[in-house]
Amino acid sequence: ISDDQPYRTAYHFQPVKNWINDPNGPMIYNGIYHLFYQYNPDGVVWAPPVWAHSTSTDLINWTPQPIAIQPEMDANINGSWSGSATILPGNIPAMLFTGLNPKYEQVQVLAYPKDINDPYLKEWFLAPNNPVMFPTPENQINASSFRDPTTAWRLRDGIWRVLVGSKTGTTGTSLLFKSKDFVNWVQIKEPLYSYKLSGMWECPDFFPVYINCKPIGVDTSTIGHHVKHVLKNSLDDTKHDIYTIGTYLHEKEAYVPDVGFMNESSLRYDYGKYYASKTFFDDVTTRRILLGWANESSSVADDMEKGWSGIHTIPRNVWLDCSGKQLIQWPVSEIEALREKPISVPHQVLKGGSIIELHGVTAAQADVEISFGIHDLKNIEKFKASWTDPQLLCSQKGTSVSGGLGPFGLLTLASKGLEEYTAVFFRVFKAHNNKFVVLMCSDQSSSSLNQTPDKTSYGTFVGVNPIREGLSLRILIDHSVVESFGGKGKNVITARVYPTMAIYDDAHLYVFNNGTGSVRITSLTAWSMKKARIA
Ligand code: FRU
Repeated sequence: ISDDQPYRTAYHFQPVKNWINDPNGPMIYNGIYHLFYQYNPDGVVWAPPVWAHSTSTDLINWTPQPIAIQPEMDANINGSWSGSATILPGNIPAMLFTGLNPKYEQVQVLAYPKDINDPYLKEWFLAPNNPVMFPTPENQINASSFRDPTTAWRLRDGIWRVLVGSKTGTTGTSLLFKSKDFVNWVQIKEPLYSYKLSGMWECPDFFPVYINCKPIGVDTSTIGHHVKHVLKNSLDDTKHDIYTIGTYLHEKEAYVPDVGFMNESSLRYDYGKYYASKTFFDDVTTRRILLGWANESSSVADDMEKGWSGIHTIPRNVWLDCSGKQLIQWPVSEIEALREKPISVPHQVLKGGSIIELHGVTAAQADVEISFGIHDLKNIEKFKASWTDPQLLCSQKGTSVSGGLGPFGLLTLASKGLEEYTAVFFRVFKAHNNKFVVLMCSDQSSSSLNQTPDKTSYGTFVGVNPIREGLSLRILIDHSVVESFGGKGKNVITARVYPTMAIYDDAHLYVFNNGTGSVRITSLTAWSMKKARIA
């Protein structure tokens, strides 16, 4: 393992070494946040996982705790896969997760803390009657596609419901189980929701959001006219976390997405490297908080050299947008405690072809907020109806391709001579109906002189009116992470990059406009970020 660690994060969660994947069982219990995660204690690639555990009081600084769950009985003898926490009546936390049994079948396992008076809930035990849900010849569940139970919810009938991700043939499906006592679970014949050709649904998440579009969360068991429901699935085929907003018909034990489908064309939490996320309700601050995993984009050989693989994104507050059609995501406000030494740039016009360095920030470890105003529409390009794939469009129209309005945005993790940079930018087009189309890109193609990492460009269309609302961008830069929030949290792109020159104090930050038309910088503040205790 290399001592020189230019890619280790300063404030994004990661353990000291080895492989991590999904966040598991997040919860707040007696005022302490708990994060469990899929972990290989022996290496930098995936292997039958255990549940590692960290605790926090602010979702940013974490204290490692002992391994919480490891092989203990037949039900999880071959691995402890992902799962979720539910707080039972009497303030008892319960974990449901997927175990791999001696036949490598996926079964659902119930675990409890050994001592609920231990503030850190260090030790866990598996209930004696495990597994509590399992494939049988009668239920016809596919034993290799039956995993990742959600947080359970309880309706007025006093009965718990939980979803388990699955597929039947190529149909992705959310299997629904019910229980009175959390131990004896009965499958409901019809799944909560399925959709053809979408493949295996991993890590389902199902939760209500207030329709009042305030940044407030609501308990997972809430139903009623004041909420809509969100169903999120992690698509195994494409490794994307997609979600829909819809109606939970609890009497029919069914969910109906507003758009009528759920597949790769659905909305995504994040248009970059992001997977296996899950939310929990924080009843102390009344927020719904989203945690997710960002895999490496580096080669296994590079991962072996650095001795670790995988990080978690900054916990995000999630709520329903006022349109009712999508979610808004924003980094939890606790992260702002790490900000120091802000620099700002006065209101100014950024002419086509200009580039300005932002001096005085630790550019490898920063938080940047910038807003652009659009006024110069002379050169605006026409949007072609055939441009349906924003990621493809971003790869064709990269940072160096000058347009009418854009690309304009930030060059992050940039070397002095711009041999390396990760660019996050917008392009604005005019569509046939005279509406504007805003493309947001994260261009990794010049992120590193190292040839081996995956440098795919990411892209997404942001549903804002750029003239009326302006265009905002917030970017959390953390050595090998560039986590970008566009349109005040409407669209998010997380990238993993590995600069060879733009590291530590040799990293620079620029604002640029490579279009022909000018844009206005209406506000720009950048903070150096302190280090958090992440491991
Ligand atoms: C998602 C996933 C889950 C599974 C876990 C295994 O990344 O494949 O479906 O429970 O990881 O580590």
